[in-house]
Amino acid sequence: MVTMEKIISICKRRGFIAPSSEIYGGFESCYDYGFLGALLKNNIKQNWWKTVTQYRDDIVGVDASILMSPKVWQASGHLTAGFADSLVECKKCHRRFRKDYLKENKCPDCGGELTKERKFNLMMKTFIGPVESETAVTYLRGETCQGIYMNYQFMKDTMRLKIPFGIAQIGKAFRNEITTRYFIFKTREFEQMEMQYFVEPDAKEKKKWFDYWKKERMNWYVGLGIEKDNLRFREHRPDELAHYAKKAVDIEYKFPWGWDEIEGIHDRGDWDLSNHSKHSGQDLSYYDEQTKKKFIPHIIETSAGADRSVLAFLVEAYQEVKGGRTETTEAKKEIEVVLRLDKELAPIKVAVLPLVRNKKNLVKKAKEVYNSLKVHWMSQYDEVGSIGRRYRRQDEIGTPYCLTVDFDSFKKDDLTIRHRDTMKQERIKIKELVGYLREKLERG
Ligand code: GAP
Repeated sequence: MVTMEKIISICKRRGFIAPSSEIYGGFESCYDYGFLGALLKNNIKQNWWKTVTQYRDDIVGVDASILMSPKVWQASGHLTAGFADSLVECKKCHRRFRKDYLKENKCPDCGGELTKERKFNLMMKTFIGPVESETAVTYLRGETCQGIYMNYQFMKDTMRLKIPFGIAQIGKAFRNEITTRYFIFKTREFEQMEMQYFVEPDAKEKKKWFDYWKKERMNWYVGLGIEKDNLRFREHRPDELAHYAKKAVDIEYKFPWGWDEIEGIHDRGDWDLSNHSKHSGQDLSYYDEQTKKKFIPHIIETSAGADRSVLAFLVEAYQEVKGGRTETTEAKKEIEVVLRLDKELAPIKVAVLPLVRNKKNLVKKAKEVYNSLKVHWMSQYDEVGSIGRRYRRQDEIGTPYCLTVDFDSFKKDDLTIRHRDTMKQERIKIKELVGYLREKLERG
């Protein structure tokens, strides 16, 4: 069974993810992505970006700044009670807790008396410039989509966008979450992949796009290897809806601790553009030249967490195989871990391994193969340890193909290609390698 302990352990051991500032004992549930983790996360983000912007004609992307005018957050409603957690505070040690997480009416840390529930805002405050005064206050963005609304007019005009159209962005968001949990699942600094789809304010039209995006987004996870049975939709009850949402449906993944949200699809109505029009004095309405109608577009939002996606894809890919998949005696006794990541997401696509490392010409040939591949795909060269051990190391990080250069390679100018999932091995001519791998690794 996949447990969070196992996921956290492999992430640490194999250089995917580790606590931030670890030499100082870590810091407040912040995490750093090591090389393999960064590659995995980048592959997820790139695939999302391509899916929404490159493969479509109706969506463009932006990269807005994290720091924005505090007026943005005033207008969006994030500085008021809407974007806040209800908390109780211990009168003795002053720690704050969510009441629904507490078993008793006493502080779980010191047993002190608790205050009544109060709202605590989630925006992360900071100061612009050298003087820490109220006039210098601004906020790290609490959601990336506000940067999209700030660029709505700029993109609409310069990219000549006609409704319905979308604007996408990937970037960091920050929330002063009171409780963090489950490794990278809920943290105070995280990354979002958000797309805002601007549509006519017509109920039928909105329902059509809401349903369309629900389906598209679910298919994205399935297309990248998540079992349908491990995903589901969950509609928000009216009392759960965020302050901006008229309707919200989460895509949930079956994590080791249970079903939990990885993405939200929201009908934000005209909340954002109307409020920004009102607060900025700028007319953010859209004029339809064909129908001669002027209106504030409504927004259907898809909002996915990049870190939560990393976690879901890792949990889904993690598999333990008892008895060893590689034919070495030491492996037969052990449990082997295989990360069955989709090829598109795998951090390393190909590993090149000389059969042994003490034969100079074998090493030379293997390095030549490696050098010819690394310009095409993220590749790794490994000559340390038995060939079985090296296969296992690559299985553990999800590398789909291992190439072994052996003594026959000199005679026939070929090598062995080993497939991660089936462990099937076949001989392939070195001059045909790039074409072969291109077909296997790159989707149309
Ligand atoms: N713009 C809408 C919005 O931000 P949300 O439901 O608050 O909606 C969307 O967040 C997604 O962002 C979530 O589904 C989740 O994947 C990710 N997310 C939100 N808070 C997070 C946190 N504290 N840590 C990690 N990811 C988070």
